[in-house]
Order: sequence, then structure tokens, then C-alpha cells
Amino acid sequence: MTYYTKSEARPDIGEFYGFHHVRFYVSNSKQAAAFYTSRFGFSPCAYEGLETGNQKFCTNVIRNNQVVLAFTSALTPEDNEVNRHVAMHSDGVQDIAFSVSDARGMYEKATAKGCKGIREPQVLQDEYGSVVIASLQTYGDTIHTLIQNVDYTGPFLPGYRAVTRDDPINAAFPKINLEVIDHIVGNQPDGDMTPTVEWYEKYLEFHRYWSADESVIHTDYSSLRSVVVADWDEVIKMPINEPAEGLRKSQIQEYVEYYGGAGVQHIALRVNDIISTISTLRARGVEFLEVPPKYYDSLRKRLAHSSIQVQEDLAKIEELHILIDFDDRGYLLQIFSKPVEDRPTLFYEFIQRHNNNGFGIGNFKALFESLEQEQEKRGNLV
Ligand SMILES: [Fe+2]
Repeated sequence: MTYYTKSEARPDIGEFYGFHHVRFYVSNSKQAAAFYTSRFGFSPCAYEGLETGNQKFCTNVIRNNQVVLAFTSALTPEDNEVNRHVAMHSDGVQDIAFSVSDARGMYEKATAKGCKGIREPQVLQDEYGSVVIASLQTYGDTIHTLIQNVDYTGPFLPGYRAVTRDDPINAAFPKINLEVIDHIVGNQPDGDMTPTVEWYEKYLEFHRYWSADESVIHTDYSSLRSVVVADWDEVIKMPINEPAEGLRKSQIQEYVEYYGGAGVQHIALRVNDIISTISTLRARGVEFLEVPPKYYDSLRKRLAHSSIQVQEDLAKIEELHILIDFDDRGYLLQIFSKPVEDRPTLFYEFIQRHNNNGFGIGNFKALFESLEQEQEKRGNLV
């Protein structure tokens, strides 16, 4: 396992301010958005469709603080990119959009070096103001849209109308506060991790932030390799995984086969009170991976030999199946949902950090054994 140091000078590509939104291509945008509002505590915030003059596509946008998800579906049966994406991948992430300082300049620098452009820079404008927007092709069928806010103060992006009526289900539960997207993980077919990492280094001038290989990330049966890339300010972190040889099929390989190639495996959402968040998410019906009791026996022993004082109630943490990872400076709490699709593809992580910028390496074995139990139930741990 390696932590890298970044260059001292800021690269000339410009600044990344964070994740702007994640766009999913889905078969039914209304129902997909309703799943996340009712289960995860998001609220509707913007809409585009027939009523706003878009005859081809419908998008429902939901948000919780800085976490914004957009669900787009096709309104017609014609052959278009949304219908093709859904036919291949089922519902899945199509666009990881970044807020940036200079969308046009970034697009031009990346494409001049050979990056495939998807949408040339253009200004979008409505009564709320304007943005500059451009898109680049990254792994699989996934793209990155670069969004530069000029003077836009509306609900999502120009062209969308605001939605202010909350899902009434939210009134029945304690409020869920998701702070921000912490990281988004992309799974690659075997052999594609390094070229994908190099894509981020070359075109977006990201740097390697952290990496680990199969000597660290493995169980008795399967293993994987992972490199995390980040922008210079390290507000965007993108772990890139690939399967490694093991006795049985890697969970990454299972993902790639079901998704139909490279794609987003999980989205990690940072919270500041994981115990109340997970208690409420469970009450709302979100399903999480289970952790065997022996994990907590071992954790208590390891904590007893460390200088770390966990502020949260360990009994509550065990009851909720939350995982803890720590080093000599701090700790993090994390938990993983079961897949939110019929296919064993996309899932969510909820993470709370206490002076620890890691990804839970100490939990990988327990986590992967839990994942393999689920893989076994699907008949895919072969
Ligand atoms: Fe993660």
C-alpha cells in the first residue's frame, strides 16, 4: 500500500472545485428518483421533460446538501444514447460531472493531447444565468462533464425548472444529512486499470493519491488492485480497480461481466453522524452488507492496543454493522449498501472521517468476505 506525494506546483489545467452531480441513464427517471428520495432521504430539486419543452429526454434531479443526482430516461423508443446505455448496462452512472474553473480550457487542453471529446464547450443560459459546459469520454461508456459556473443561481443547470415540493416520505423520518461525495470508484476489466489511471494523469492532470495491490487486497479466494487518482486540491478522488488472479472469480470481474464493461462500482457519501444516518437509512429500508461478530471481537482487541479513542458507541456500531479503520493518527467509519440494482453492480458507501483520509484498507478483507457471501448466493463465486 502506497501514499503518493503530489507535485508542488499546481498543474496548468485549472482548478477542480468538486463533484457537481452524477447523472444516471435509467429506464424510468421518475421511479429511479423516487427510490433515492424515499430510501436515501434526497429531495427533488429540478426537472426537465415534456413540460419544459424537451421532447426526447426526461430528467429528474434530486439533492441532499452538496450531493446531487440526476436521472435521465428517454421519452421515445428511438435509437439514442440513453436507450442504448440502458439496454447494455441497465440503470447506471453515465456521467460524473465536475465543477471547474475553466471548462473550455480544460476541454481544449485534453482534446489537444488526444482525449476523446463528447460535447464541445458551449454556453447554456436561462433566466437564472449561464454556465460553460463540455464533456470528455473516460472509462467504458462513462463521461466527465466539466461545468464552469459563470453567474448561474438556479436549481441545477440552465433549462431545468425548480421543483420545491418535497417527497412527503421525508417528513416521516429524521433528516438525513449527506455532506458531499467523498469518492467514486470505477471498475475496469483486467489489464485496464493502469491505462485508465494514465488517462486521468494525462488529460486531467490528476495525480496518483494511493494504491494497493493483491498482496494487500485479497481474501482466501479472490483479489484486486486499486489506484486512487485525485485532482491537485484532492477534492475529487477516483479509485480505479481491476480484478487480480485468485482461486475464484473476483467481485470486480463479476461486476464487469454484469455491467457490460467498465463502469462506476460505488459512490461514497460523506456524513458527519454515521450512527444516526445509518439508523435512519435502515428504518427507510436501505439494505447493507453484514459483518460477522468476529470482526468486532478483533476490532476491540486492536483498538485496545492503539492510541485511538473512538468517540462513537462501539455497541451501536456493531449493531448497525458499521466498520472502523484506523492508523496512529485517526480513524474512519464506513458501511456499504447491498447493490441498488437488479444486477450486482452499483452500490453505496457511507463514510465518516476522523482525521483519516484512507479508504478503509484494514476493512477490505472483512468487506470482501461479506461481498463474497453475497456473490456465493448469486452463484458467481466460482
Ligand atoms: Fe469506497
